[in-house]
Amino acid sequence: MTERRGLPAVGLGVRSKALLERAEQSLAGGVGSSARSTRAGWQPYPPFIASGQGSHVTDVDGNDFIDYLLGLGPMLLGHRPPRVTEAVVTALREMGTVFGLPYALEAEAAERVVQAVPGIDLVRFANSGSEAVGTAVRLARAVTGRPLIVRFEGMYHGWMDTVYWSNHPPKKEAGPSERPLPVPAGPGIPSSLADTLVVRGWNDVAAIDQVMAERGRDVAAILTEPLMLNTGCILPEDGYLKHLRELTSAHGSLLIFDEVITGFRLALGGAQEYFGVLPDLTTLAKGLGGGFPVAAIGGSRAIMDWIAEGRYSHSGTYNSNVIACAAVKAAVDELSIPGTYEALRARGSKLMDGLRAAAREAGVPVQVQGVGPVFQVWFSDSPIHNYRQAAALADHERFHRWWQEMYSRGILFHPSQDENLFLSTTHSDLDIDRTLEAASEAFRACAVAR
Ligand SMILES: Cc1ncc(COP(=O)(O)O)c(C=O)c1O
Repeated sequence: MTERRGLPAVGLGVRSKALLERAEQSLAGGVGSSARSTRAGWQPYPPFIASGQGSHVTDVDGNDFIDYLLGLGPMLLGHRPPRVTEAVVTALREMGTVFGLPYALEAEAAERVVQAVPGIDLVRFANSGSEAVGTAVRLARAVTGRPLIVRFEGMYHGWMDTVYWSNHPPKKEAGPSERPLPVPAGPGIPSSLADTLVVRGWNDVAAIDQVMAERGRDVAAILTEPLMLNTGCILPEDGYLKHLRELTSAHGSLLIFDEVITGFRLALGGAQEYFGVLPDLTTLAKGLGGGFPVAAIGGSRAIMDWIAEGRYSHSGTYNSNVIACAAVKAAVDELSIPGTYEALRARGSKLMDGLRAAAREAGVPVQVQGVGPVFQVWFSDSPIHNYRQAAALADHERFHRWWQEMYSRGILFHPSQDENLFLSTTHSDLDIDRTLEAASEAFRACAVAR
């Protein structure tokens, strides 16, 4: 690829290609998670990363990228955040990793989470978002004694059998939009679990009212992301989250906010602070540990007492390991520095506004939807409010073309429109300016290609 004015050109990636071919001999598909594969859009092959620093990553071919992939969310403090990294290294050197017994740092990390997140009186740590959601769903059933979980089409809540349904169901299997059918997201999930789920479209008040009117007494919980982030980025309609809160309370069901992405990202207290609606149970993961692997489940004292008093057994060998707890304590302290979220949101807004302007100037209709620290550029003439609209309106081919143009200019984010662009506290004004310069050229290239 040729050098462009003011912007580095991304090379062909011969080392990445060679590494993928080597990795494929021993690692299934050559990658550690399906979202990193060529099938997920990383064409012709994913860049193999050599290192990350702050808002940038460098690949093995020497290409430097401004990183809006951010590990699919966790690198909220940028790559190698100095204080968190130091805290983890010190704890490892001075303490160890896993004891199978409690220790003081664990309580210090828990105190940080309880203080920050308004809906959490008590917390337990886990190792991945999937685990945390799996626990939340089972705990909701245990506490209420009810079988049903209501979840929304287009959301992803991890890969546990109980929730890995209807993420992106094919149209021909998904049923009518007012009453979608639960569709397993892959083979191997017992079909009998369909009877434990009710799936509805998000942002549809009439549909959720109808479900609760008909089956409310059997509903253990409504499970939702407070901002829909696994079908691009879709905002809740005004009053929708509050309505879910009131509806669940009225029917004796629990409200679970899956804040695996939004927790510590939208605000220190997550989306529940940002939108001012408190759930009964909260799951956290990607924003929690400054990029180290950790997740958490927390909630009101009355519910979490089921765990505290041994009525529900929450277990896990690696729960609350030293890496996780040192990371949580240091990351939450870092995020608690006054002004952190104001600066993050201001930069995010500048980037979103700039992208809107660049697309407008190029004559490319897009909807930049999000809240600043996380957003998506929908290639669509009109706003997207739910999964069915995304499936009908979003132009995936044009998005992919734009992604390629951005990637070749050193701007990194996921090639699928169903993912997001993430901002870290380390993205600078220069990063934003360079991104917008690249975006102007990329939109113009898409306009010409139409
Ligand atoms: C909203 C949401 N919940 C749960 C998960 C699962 O988290 P993990 O990948 O840590 O298992 C994800 C992962 O992307 C997510 O976005």
